[in-house]
Amino acid sequence: MKVVTLKAPGGLDKLQVQETEAPGEPGPGELRVRLHASSLNFHDYGVVAGMIPVEDGRIPMSDGAGVVEAVGEGVEEFAVGDAVVSTFFPPWLEGPARLGNFATTPGDGVDGYARERVVRPAHWFTRQPAGYSHIESATLTTAGLTAWRALVVDGGLKAGDTVLVLGTGGVSIFALQFARLMGARVIATSSSDDKLDRLRKMGAEHTINYRDDPRWGKTVKSLTGGEGVDHVVEVGGPGTLPESIDAVRIGGHISLIGVLTGREGEIPTAKLMAKQARLQGLIVGSRRHQLEMIRAIEADGMKPVIDSTFGLEEIAEAFRHQESGRHFGKICLTW
Ligand SMILES: NC(=O)c1ccc[n+]([C@@H]2O[C@H](COP(=O)([O-])OP(=O)(O)OC[C@H]3O[C@@H](n4cnc5c(N)ncnc54)[C@H](OP(=O)(O)O)[C@@H]3O)[C@@H](O)[C@H]2O)c1
Repeated sequence: MKVVTLKAPGGLDKLQVQETEAPGEPGPGELRVRLHASSLNFHDYGVVAGMIPVEDGRIPMSDGAGVVEAVGEGVEEFAVGDAVVSTFFPPWLEGPARLGNFATTPGDGVDGYARERVVRPAHWFTRQPAGYSHIESATLTTAGLTAWRALVVDGGLKAGDTVLVLGTGGVSIFALQFARLMGARVIATSSSDDKLDRLRKMGAEHTINYRDDPRWGKTVKSLTGGEGVDHVVEVGGPGTLPESIDAVRIGGHISLIGVLTGREGEIPTAKLMAKQARLQGLIVGSRRHQLEMIRAIEADGMKPVIDSTFGLEEIAEAFRHQESGRHFGKICLTW
């Protein structure tokens, strides 16, 4: 079977497509899944580009979707032929977060899904949403669930709330879609006027070019009658957080998700205190959260925004496309 491995210390030219022996029959409680799709996340880019050190020969990609090919003894949740999608934290089934690192995350601490077949415990997967293709399902594991948890699980999003989303990457577009699904208003930013146009077509009420308007936090505040937004989906980190603090309402909620502008920086803590805002860090979500998100997707019929799809052998090209920042929504792989 085909498998992609990454030679340490990483780099897009260190991705190798190889032939290896296919895994055998699943043991008790396991599934064998014929994988058909994955999707690219900033975290996967960090791994393959060598910014996040991993073991030599690591199989990349946290997201995987495919079909159950064989079930081991005692598996009741799935049957042969079921369409399934992977989870980001295989040991985190439900309840509060207990994992604060990527030691158990496929494509980082353990081998991921850039391969044709895998044998894993059944609880490493959930069902796919009805009517979703493997490619569509593969967008949910990381980007979809992060946006869902930020707004719905941690944020307690309500109809009528206002949500600020930053940029047009995978997490932010999902956040826009979930916000609209839940009846919220959306303000969105991007570095590109063409992308802002697309955001408005997707239901963003106001859009701001963050390159042309570096004080976009104040602009967001004035667009909400001086009040500020209820939720910020903060994917930028230190370079954007001061503006996000300006943009949030008193008592609002900022989901601290991303590191697009770096890992450390100066934060106006007194302003955050005066805003009495809740700054909540998070990493993706549990298997239970994934099942709840899938239920909501099925009730609404929402589909992910897929920017482009590449073959498994074109994985390096797909990451170069992500690196260029030209994408809008998810870049996927299929095989
Ligand atoms: N904590 C978690 O659980 C979790 C989960 C998933 C992702 N993340 C993090 O969230 C971030 C986004 O991930 P992703 O996979 O959605 O990335 P992605 O798809 O690669 O998105 C990149 C996009 O971010 C936008 N961007 C870049 N710099 C920006 C800035 N200074 N201000 C506003 N937008 C900016 C750009 O949008 P425009 O082209 O429109 O300007 C760019 O296209 C990453 O830092 C990632 O590590 C965290």
